[in-house]
Order: sequence, then structure tokens, then C-alpha cells
Amino acid sequence: MQRKQIIQETAKYIKEKFAVGVAGHDWWHIYRVWNMAKHIAREEKNGDMFVIELAALLHDLGDYKTSVAGEETASQEITAYLSRVSLPEALIGEVITIVQSVSFSRNVHKNNVLSKEAQIVQDADRLDALGAIGIARAFAYGGSKGRQLYDPNMEVKSFTTTEERRMHTGSTINHFHEKLLLLKELMHTPTAKKIAERRQKYIELFLEEFYKEWDGIQ
Ligand code: ADP
Ligand code: NI
Repeated sequence: MQRKQIIQETAKYIKEKFAVGVAGHDWWHIYRVWNMAKHIAREEKNGDMFVIELAALLHDLGDYKTSVAGEETASQEITAYLSRVSLPEALIGEVITIVQSVSFSRNVHKNNVLSKEAQIVQDADRLDALGAIGIARAFAYGGSKGRQLYDPNMEVKSFTTTEERRMHTGSTINHFHEKLLLLKELMHTPTAKKIAERRQKYIELFLEEFYKEWDGIQ
């Protein structure tokens, strides 16, 4: 199969798999990350576009929140799928390494050395948690878990392990401080840093307005 055809096949495969997605973790999230990863790669003039596109399309297969596949079985599923489209073994390995490095909660407490391709896909995924879409996704996710919008008596937490982070059931507004506002500093590429800055400002404005309304000031 030609490279272009493999990308098209993969998009189709993932679109079907994520047709019924969990709050903000659906096909359209993948679609946005795929587009953003392509945009960053073009701007940075760096990274193997084919590998970046494949990894962006497959990046959420193993996400523990989507339960499309468990994290362990995700690598097997990706291997099986990419073998079916006859991707060489070395490239399959590359894609799997990237996908494993993308999860925020799994990797934020580690200091792995990332390939350019992994940096780009990770940046693209994290950008989707910022800005207007990031706000919408956070409340959609929080709602699906029955979390409170906000509770002024609830402390903002910091985490040292993946488990701690995943077990936490704080308010969605706290999630902004516990994760979303940390993302800008974690961007790898200059292109993503710039976009993150704009999107973060938007979140900060939103929070400012939210707290004012909460206190009945506006
Ligand atoms: P991980 O990489 O650990 O799977 P993600 O970055 O995939 O985490 O998170 C996906 C989306 O879900 C993001 O938009 C994120 O803000 C949102 N999300 C994750 N955890 C929470 C939470 N506790 N409250 C609100 N939104 C959340
Ligand atoms: Ni994602």
C-alpha cells in the first residue's frame, strides 16, 4: 500500500473505532490532533510526516479513559493493525514508542527523551486540552465523571505519581490549575509554544470571569 493510502485507511479505521467517543475523546479529537500535528511539522520543517500522521491518528488507542483498548493491549492492537497494512517492522516500533509517550498522566512525572515526531504529536495532543476546545473538553469530561464544576473549599492538588493523578476526583475548575495551566511550559516545539500561549491566555480570561461571577461581582 502507498503511504497516502495507508494514512487514509488508518483515518477510516480510527473514525469507526472512535465513532462513539467518551466526552471530548472522540474521532473529532483525533481529527484535530492529526491536523495540528501536520501543521506543527510543516512549520517546524522537521520530523517524518508519515510517522507523525500515523502516530497522531493512533495516539489515543491505548488511553485508559477511552477504554477502546487497555493500555497493554493497545500496542498489540497497533502492531496487528499496522502489520495488516504492511508497514515495515521498524516503523511500527517507532509509531508505538510515540503513542506510548503521548499520555499526559503517564509521562508527566518522567523525563523521557523524545524523538522529534513524538514531541510534535505530544504537543498537538496537549494543545487540544487548551483554549476554547480545552475548556469544553474539560467540562464534558468532568460532567461524564459526575465531578463538580467548582468548590471553593476544595484545595488545588499537586501530584507526584500517575496513580495519584488518576485517582483524583477534584472539581473541573481545579483541573485547570492541576493540569491545563501547566501545559504551556511542557510544549516542546516553538510553534506549539506560541499557540499554547494564546490558548492559555483565553483560559486565564475564562477563569477570571468565572471567579468574578462566582462571587457575584459581575
Ligand atoms: P491523559 O494523557 O492522561 O490520558 P488527556 O490529556 O488525554 O490525559 O486528557 C484528555 C482530556 O480530558 C483533556 O481535555 C483533559 O483536560 C480532560 N481531562 C482529563 N482529566 C480531567 C479531569 N480530572 N477533569 C476535567 N477534565 C479532565
Ligand atoms: Ni488525545
